[in-house]
Amino acid sequence: MTDTGTHGRRRSAAWFGAEGRSGMVYRSWMRNQGYTGEVFDGRPVIGIATTWSELAPCNSHLQRVAESVKRGVWQAGGFPLEFPAMALGETLMRPTAMLYRNLLAMEAEELMRANPLDGVVLLSGCDKTTPGLLMAASSVDLPAIMVTGGPMLNGKYRGGDVGSGTQVWRFEAELAAGRMTQEECFFAEGCMARSNGHCMTMGTASTMASMAEALGMQLPGSASWPAVDSRRYETAQRAGQRIVAMVAEDLRPSQIMTREAFENAIRVNAAIGGSTNAVIHLLAIAGRLGVPLALDDFDALAREVPTLVDLQPSGRFLMEDFCYAGGLPVVMRELGALLHPEPTTVTGRTVAENVADAECWNREVIRTLDDPFQEAGTGTAVLRGNLAPNGAVIKQSAASRHLLTHRGRALVFDTPEDYLAVHADEDLPVDENTVLVIRGSGPRGYPGMPEVSNVVLPPKLLRKGIEDMVRICDGRMSGTGFGTVVLHVSPESAVGGPLALVRDGDWITLDVPARTLTLDVGEAELERRRAAWEPPPPVADRGWSRLYTEHVLQADQGLDLDFLVGGSGHPVPRESH
Ligand code: FES
Ligand code: MG
Repeated sequence: MTDTGTHGRRRSAAWFGAEGRSGMVYRSWMRNQGYTGEVFDGRPVIGIATTWSELAPCNSHLQRVAESVKRGVWQAGGFPLEFPAMALGETLMRPTAMLYRNLLAMEAEELMRANPLDGVVLLSGCDKTTPGLLMAASSVDLPAIMVTGGPMLNGKYRGGDVGSGTQVWRFEAELAAGRMTQEECFFAEGCMARSNGHCMTMGTASTMASMAEALGMQLPGSASWPAVDSRRYETAQRAGQRIVAMVAEDLRPSQIMTREAFENAIRVNAAIGGSTNAVIHLLAIAGRLGVPLALDDFDALAREVPTLVDLQPSGRFLMEDFCYAGGLPVVMRELGALLHPEPTTVTGRTVAENVADAECWNREVIRTLDDPFQEAGTGTAVLRGNLAPNGAVIKQSAASRHLLTHRGRALVFDTPEDYLAVHADEDLPVDENTVLVIRGSGPRGYPGMPEVSNVVLPPKLLRKGIEDMVRICDGRMSGTGFGTVVLHVSPESAVGGPLALVRDGDWITLDVPARTLTLDVGEAELERRRAAWEPPPPVADRGWSRLYTEHVLQADQGLDLDFLVGGSGHPVPRESH
């Protein structure tokens, strides 16, 4: 048995194996739950970190998932203990669930370290809960396995499939164009969410579940089982069995999530047409592990990878179809030589071994390398230029081809609210060539860098049949969103990034093939504007928002707090009694 904290014994033995008064205190209060004495016999104590909450609807079934995990832990001779970690619901939380990802990560990290745990199972679902828990587990580095809650069943409306998130923007545009009534929209929104689970488009939740699987942190195939599929619960039980073995093997996140594993994840993200949010989350997780990873790695690694999966928002199908087609193992097998075969995963086997037998059951949904859904080089691109010295990203597969090279005049708004207040005005000086610049949406400025960047187009253009125009923003876009939207502009406007200096009428050139974003204004003029620029007042004078805005890193560094980068391991803390 590997020493995981105290004198050759299991970490939990420092609590439950203790003698005298301390040991009595540690055991006695636990016994108020009616456990028989043998749970203290030195067996692995497995924490189940759950982000269950009725306020996080995508995670509201995780209590049932936890019960399945517990079965597996008991079966394998472990002692399972479920505990709550901050649940982040993407749909309800204001100003954005992203403001709280680091708080979840910080809370879960401290709970794992302060308690008598030998290993942890991470239960997540909605967008931010997956990276939040992976960040925590990375900083603690106890054996850990993730079980995501799975996607909702496909939405169904009037005989067709309805993708969560993605269809909201389409409904909104239909409503604005007068092609749908308010009553029809209300009915349709119910049809979109017809079972437990997270968004069933390839939005951020499905992307991050896939990233957890690609990184080797969840069992093969488990990213795509629908939340209500019995096989999701089988997988959870297997994960419970497996974590007990992982404790015996002392198989920890730092051994699984290596540089090679991140390179695999980035390539898988390109192959699945995954969310741009994965860029930020993977950078943050890597930062916790001390794995060197930079924004430019995403462009360089993804460039050679075609998109294989025909899923919304870039394509046609939904996660249920992806699951029945064979899911992520098929994609990873198909990528073959584009992936590193050797990283170890939670199965104890390598990536290549895990997917060797994966078979595809629907080639419309998961295409081959020879006949991909989208050519290599059409994934998320990293742009640079005088408007984004530290980088920006654009999801090419969700953009309009004809706008990927574009020159237009800027129409600038200091906040998304400023734009939305006037966007329906008939005399708004805008046409299809205009470049909408929406600033004030960055990590510090909003705060939390919300998913507001793909603002709805002005109704007067929608009515003309214009469906897309170039938008540039220091915020994020939902993984379910689409459009020619330059995102994550860094540094953000609130800290004086060049985005803060753009004025109405300036020419902006977007050249995605050349990976550039240029403000066509001379350096002398920019210098004059910079001298006159005044920073916005702080958004908060107390509480979490203050701590957050004082310490958050910019988008190109993953938006972690500066003092949370890295890890502190899992030493047994000092006595509490
Ligand atoms: Fe929770 Fe999309 S809102 S996953
Ligand atoms: Mg989202």
